[in-house]
Amino acid sequence: MIDLHCHFLPGIDDGPETLDQALDLARMAVADGIRHAVLTSHVDPDRYPNDKRSLLAAVESFAGEVAKAHIALQLHLGGEARLCPELIDMLAENQVPFLGEVDGYRVLLLEFPHPLIPVGSLRFVQSLLKLKIRPLIAHPERNKAILAQPDKVTEFAEAGCWLQLTAGSLVGRFGSQAQETAYKIIDEGWNCVVATDAHNLQNRPPLLSEGRAALQQRYGEAVARSMVLERPARILGLPIELASG
Ligand SMILES: [Fe+2]
Repeated sequence: MIDLHCHFLPGIDDGPETLDQALDLARMAVADGIRHAVLTSHVDPDRYPNDKRSLLAAVESFAGEVAKAHIALQLHLGGEARLCPELIDMLAENQVPFLGEVDGYRVLLLEFPHPLIPVGSLRFVQSLLKLKIRPLIAHPERNKAILAQPDKVTEFAEAGCWLQLTAGSLVGRFGSQAQETAYKIIDEGWNCVVATDAHNLQNRPPLLSEGRAALQQRYGEAVARSMVLERPARILGLPIELASG
C-alpha cells in the first residue's frame, strides 16, 4: 500500500519528536503493509514554517536513517499545505512540495483549518485549478464545518478537488460522526484516496490496513485497492506492482 499522508519526520511539526520515535513509526507502517510513504509534514507559516527545500533536506536525512535501520519503506517528499494567504506567494515561488502530477495537474495536499472552511476557499481552489494545481483536500471528514453540514464538501468536489479520507475515520477512531461523514463522501462517488495521517504510535498510528479492510467489506476489493494503492500510485507516478504489498 501507499500512504499519501503521514507525519514521520522528527522534530519539525506535531509528528514524532525524536529520531527513534520516527523510526518506530516507519517500522509500524511496514508491518502494516505500507511500502511507500509520502512524508507530508505541515507547511504552515504560522505554526510550522517548513518549505520545499527544508523538507527535502529532512526527507533525505531521514531516508538515510531508515536505510541504516534496514526498514523497507520507500520515502517520498510531500507536504500538507495549510490554506492561508501566504500560500499564494509560496506556490508562486515554488516553495511548496507537491505529491505528484496526474494528467498535467500537480497534486497539492491542502488542509483547511479544523474548525471551519474560510470564506473564499472555493474561489481559492478554483484559482489553483486554473493554474493546473489539483487540490487533494486533507481529511474533509474531520473538518468541523463539514461535520456539521456534509453538503459543504460538494462544491469543492464538483469544482475538481480530490478528497483524502483518514483510514482511522473509516473504523471510528475519530468518532461516529467522522466515520459516517467519510462513508457519505465515498458514497457520492467522488475521487477519494485513503491515507493514515499518522503522527505517533499511540493515538495517531500509521495503520492503513484497517481502513482497507473496512473499505473492502463495504465496497469490495476493487474499491479498496483503488483508494490505498492504485490512485495513490498514479499520483506518485509509480507502477502499481512496485507499490503492492
Ligand atoms: Fe496531516
